Amino acid sequence: MLSDVEKGRIRSSWRLVVPIAETVPDLFYRRLFELAPQYRVLFPDDLARQKRKLLAMLKFVVASLDWTADDWKEEVAPSDDLALILMALGRRHHELYRIPDESYAVVGEVLIWTLDKGLGQAFTPRVREAWTKLYDVISASMRIGAQGATVDIDLGRSVAR
Ligand code: HEM
Repeated sequence: MLSDVEKGRIRSSWRLVVPIAETVPDLFYRRLFELAPQYRVLFPDDLARQKRKLLAMLKFVVASLDWTADDWKEEVAPSDDLALILMALGRRHHELYRIPDESYAVVGEVLIWTLDKGLGQAFTPRVREAWTKLYDVISASMRIGAQGATVDIDLGRSVAR
């Protein structure tokens, strides 16, 4: 997992994203469909709703930093277990949204590109490294869920919409 220093870098850069929250999804989807136009059909026609989902996704990623080590223990209820939440999210992406496994790479690249554009100089190499690591950890857990497809819990409570 990420070190406390890396988590701190993500939290402070997230505070800079909040004021430009309207711009970030515009940048993200424009870039995503430039680099990977084949993924446009995966998303609904109305990108306005989708843009809110991107912010929900980012909030989810940042909020996951606040889950304590206890959230990773076996005794916690399935709906509170971070690993299960991520695996179930990955399963939804695979089964419901039908995203290909290789799309995680380009989406990660576009996320980093967007933060770089949006934050400018504040997006230092160390901040970039921390976000890259966080995306890698989360997408790896999601891909495990997509492969196993044995996880079945309600995400509604856990993911901000
Ligand atoms: C770290 C990786 C990702 C996270 C945390 C994430 C998170 C989310 C969340 C929270 C939603 C809202 C619905 C739900 O809770 O199921 C969503 C929907 C969606 N995501 Fe992702 N996502 C990730 C990666 C990807 C990738 C790689 C793609 C590939 C293009 C993708 C495509 C979609 C699509 C198509 C939808 C649903 C659109 C609809 O409403 O029909 N996501 N994602």
